Amino acid sequence: MTRSTTPINLFEYQTLAAQQLPQMALDYYASGAWDEITLRDNRAAFERYKLRPRMLVDVSQRDLTTTILGQFLPSPILIAPMAFQCLAHPDGEVATAKAAAKLGSVMVLSTLSTKSIEDVASVRNSTPQWFQLYVHRDRGLTRALVERAYAAGFQALCLTIDVPVLGRRERDTHNQFVLPDGMELANFSRLNDLEIGFKPGESGLFAYVVEQFNPSLTWADLEWLRSLSPLPLVLKGILRGDDAIRAREYGASAVIVSNHGGRQLDSAIASIDALSEVVAAVGNQIDVLVDGGIRRGTDVLKALALGAKAVLLGRPVLWGLAVGGEAGVEHVLNLLLNELDLAMALSGCAKLQDIDSSLVVRGWH
Ligand code: GLV
Repeated sequence: MTRSTTPINLFEYQTLAAQQLPQMALDYYASGAWDEITLRDNRAAFERYKLRPRMLVDVSQRDLTTTILGQFLPSPILIAPMAFQCLAHPDGEVATAKAAAKLGSVMVLSTLSTKSIEDVASVRNSTPQWFQLYVHRDRGLTRALVERAYAAGFQALCLTIDVPVLGRRERDTHNQFVLPDGMELANFSRLNDLEIGFKPGESGLFAYVVEQFNPSLTWADLEWLRSLSPLPLVLKGILRGDDAIRAREYGASAVIVSNHGGRQLDSAIASIDALSEVVAAVGNQIDVLVDGGIRRGTDVLKALALGAKAVLLGRPVLWGLAVGGEAGVEHVLNLLLNELDLAMALSGCAKLQDIDSSLVVRGWH
């Protein structure tokens, strides 16, 4: 018998993808800001939490279903918004959307996608899709994005609030990150002339964000954003209880506890460490989700035990996409779902409602 080389967990997908991706793409996906302290801590923090399993519970039937924003979902694992997925695979966001639709996972499509809103919407079955919004200085352009997402059938608007400017990812600076020839921002027409262009000594994306994103965005603008469509608003990038309360007061239907995968403010608190405060502030009123560092089913279990309604999976989806396109993404999601199912069984949880705060303690290292 030869030893199988098929990845059996998300870390193995990362290793394989790293062998296959061009350096500039790998660096863009993998890197965090500055010293990557937050990037590392997102993982390390999960390892500090320990589980307190319950024994002798009937776990013969397990149920991973849940409801987020009133939408029924087969599992509490969503796909985080991630830009430029054609860097991983020619089918890019369309392949990710197909895998998501197959498994009933919500995919959050990035404003900065390399397949268009309409192309991604066309592969949806009954599974909801959400649209992630970056507010550009050009309000007309921002409005058009929201209107297109609504018209295409997206069911929530996920506003990223932690990018007034882009965090400094030094690997991208060294690489003078730019999209390869032939790859473009699919949601913007060429007429708008929006490009991630080459900028000497600089990441093209950093320059783009400085030029195009609106750094003066505040809570007061949320009313305008909400007026653009009837879509529920999800705020992504909350790390404090008081901001979560404000989010709810300004009409958000859900918040995502996130530090943008360690890519924005380095030394920001690990998202799993920020979760409890946010849950205590608003968890009984709006849905609280979390992303950042989730690589194992036990991580999902810990996040749910700490009060998250669901989690979003980021980079591992890109590793699956790079290794195997749609099938790779599907496999990555299935691996994590199976691990969650197993972790639930081993901890005495037959359904998500059985996962409570007594299941988890913060360890000492
Ligand atoms: C874009 O959202 C990025 O984090 O690079």
